[in-house]
Amino acid sequence: MNISVEIGNAVFPNPVTVASGTFGHAEDFYQLEEVKKLGAIVPKTVTLRAQTGNPPKRICETPAGMINAIGIENPGIDVFIREKLPALKKTGVPLIISISAHSDDDFVVMTEKLNAAGGIAAVELNLSCPNLQKKVLVAQSAEATATVVGRVKKVSKYPVIAKLTPNVTDITAIALAAEGAGADAISMVNTFVAMAIDVTKRRSRIGNFTGGLSGPAIRPIAVRMVCETAARVKVPIIGMGGITCTNDALEFLIAGASMVAVGTYNFVNPRAPLEVLEGIQAYMRDNKMSDIKELIGSIRR
Ligand SMILES: Cc1cc2nc3c(=O)[nH]c(=O)nc-3n(C[C@H](O)[C@H](O)[C@H](O)COP(=O)(O)O)c2cc1C
Repeated sequence: MNISVEIGNAVFPNPVTVASGTFGHAEDFYQLEEVKKLGAIVPKTVTLRAQTGNPPKRICETPAGMINAIGIENPGIDVFIREKLPALKKTGVPLIISISAHSDDDFVVMTEKLNAAGGIAAVELNLSCPNLQKKVLVAQSAEATATVVGRVKKVSKYPVIAKLTPNVTDITAIALAAEGAGADAISMVNTFVAMAIDVTKRRSRIGNFTGGLSGPAIRPIAVRMVCETAARVKVPIIGMGGITCTNDALEFLIAGASMVAVGTYNFVNPRAPLEVLEGIQAYMRDNKMSDIKELIGSIRR
């Protein structure tokens, strides 16, 4: 059974990965079979310089999900490369390194640093970062998305994945802009801007006032967005949003995603990615599929 997936010139042994920010840099766990069997590891987004993140409270539970406003807390790319990357490389699992920046120049500088560090499979651009005009996020503007993807693509020796925000009117327009600028894959979706209010205090339950909603609550919207996007772009899609089990992951694959990522549910069941991987293989066996390509985008209309 062939379950390997290609993105650009990178080959992933299977289609199951973890969503950035939900897996941390938990070196202590890298020897576990759960980790070694992953199709890829996507660590927490790193930025050029260290960031401390947002004030507490940073997370709150909501029906079938959670709101987070962590704020890309990370040690900065140099420390990441020096202190976190070696242990990640030792796992032998292909690494998709998620980066974000405050300017296109910084995205390019970080990409060059990853080129020099070597040993990774792909670069994921977390485009849920402010655009230069600061009024919108990069991935809320087709033009800004195309510019940064194009500039990174020019220097990156690794495949470039554009991770999109769902907080737009038409995500397919942004995906097409990323593809047009040379993105080797689209990763979708990031969290939905959301709020929860403590009615006793009449304050937001999140220190940052608003945060990003994730978990099963967003899955039907994410599946719809993947399905619409897969119909329009040719590059592979990494689908995510509320995946808890095999069936959830199958929805994304049938909708047209080539890979799937487990995010929030890692906090509930750290074994979920492995269970999803085993489940996909069982489904393929039951449906007499010998190649994952038969499953990807197999939705009937
Ligand atoms: C606590 C937390 C931290 C996150 N941090 C990041 C991050 O650093 N970079 C990123 O691209 N996405 C981040 N995300 C978004 C996830 O990678 C994922 O796109 C989103 O949560 C939807 O998937 P899920 O519903 O399975 O969690 C974070 C999500 C959560 C819940």
